Amino acid sequence: MSSNQSVKVLVTRDIPQIGVDLLRKEGYDVTVMGYDKPLTADELLQAAKKADALLCLGSNKIDEVFLHECKHLQVISQFAVGYDNINVPVATKLGIPVGNTPEVLSDATADIAFGLMIAVSRKFFYLHNTISKGEWGFFQPKKNLGIELKNKTLGVFGLGRIGTEMARRCKGAYHMTVIYHSRNRNVQAEKELNAKWVSFDELLQQSDVLSVHSVLSEETKGIFNKAAFGKMKPSAIFINTSRGGVHNEADLIDALTTKTIWGAGLDVTNPEPMQKDNPLLFMENAAVLPHIGSGTVEARNAMSQLAAENIIAFYKTGTMKNCLNPEVLLRK
Ligand code: DGY
Repeated sequence: MSSNQSVKVLVTRDIPQIGVDLLRKEGYDVTVMGYDKPLTADELLQAAKKADALLCLGSNKIDEVFLHECKHLQVISQFAVGYDNINVPVATKLGIPVGNTPEVLSDATADIAFGLMIAVSRKFFYLHNTISKGEWGFFQPKKNLGIELKNKTLGVFGLGRIGTEMARRCKGAYHMTVIYHSRNRNVQAEKELNAKWVSFDELLQQSDVLSVHSVLSEETKGIFNKAAFGKMKPSAIFINTSRGGVHNEADLIDALTTKTIWGAGLDVTNPEPMQKDNPLLFMENAAVLPHIGSGTVEARNAMSQLAAENIIAFYKTGTMKNCLNPEVLLRK
């Protein structure tokens, strides 16, 4: 680019102002869209055709067709750590660097996983609803009982940054034993948390709480299905705060209905948003949240800042703070 003045940045949703201000401070021509609701695929395409840089969200489908239509884009910066909405291999072929926002939302998301675990173990959401339905009866010594978490085994599927934060919380609060299954060994967590790598089947069989923190990929899509739930303990709690596509929802509902597992806590569903009559919303042993893992003031501000800084660093130095396809930067 000859001058910052000519860098046109499209921001696809009304994100915390800090990132927009940083981009404007650089002199970029910043257009923020999607104030009331996410852009449709066509609105996104038309707006992106006029942009040099795209700051997008997980709800924007940046697929092969979009990327071929918008191969002029110089940089894409995702306001999220997850990037299953972006076809990164195609972006790489087209020479478009893609950034994301890891680390800054790990605490916020782990808090939601940890909170859901407790909510499910003590049936928070279901019991809350009984009060609003006028069903708060007398003290019933054998009813509405939860299960305790102390000294139980936490199984983490995908022990990256968020999974590690979840494991730290479970170990610190409940002295839980940590086992995990990941593509790669996490030597640091093994040292710090005495975490033990196990096979996928061992993870299913041994976990009292199984918390999903993996990416959504061809390998992980629907991996928590009927067969997987069938291998878990009847007392096990399943938590998913990563992507709804990692579990098969019909199989999960069946596992909860037949008491194959104790309960489930979800911050992510498939599709999103979940329909208001979804059976999971009415089950005693389920707790569902509307994808709020990164939803704290601190995390969202930091995501906004980092997403903007990725774009700024690209134009100023040819690098990015977090790049998913750094080989593209080397080629530039
Ligand atoms: C992420 O950052 O991936 C969160 O799920 C928000 O989309």
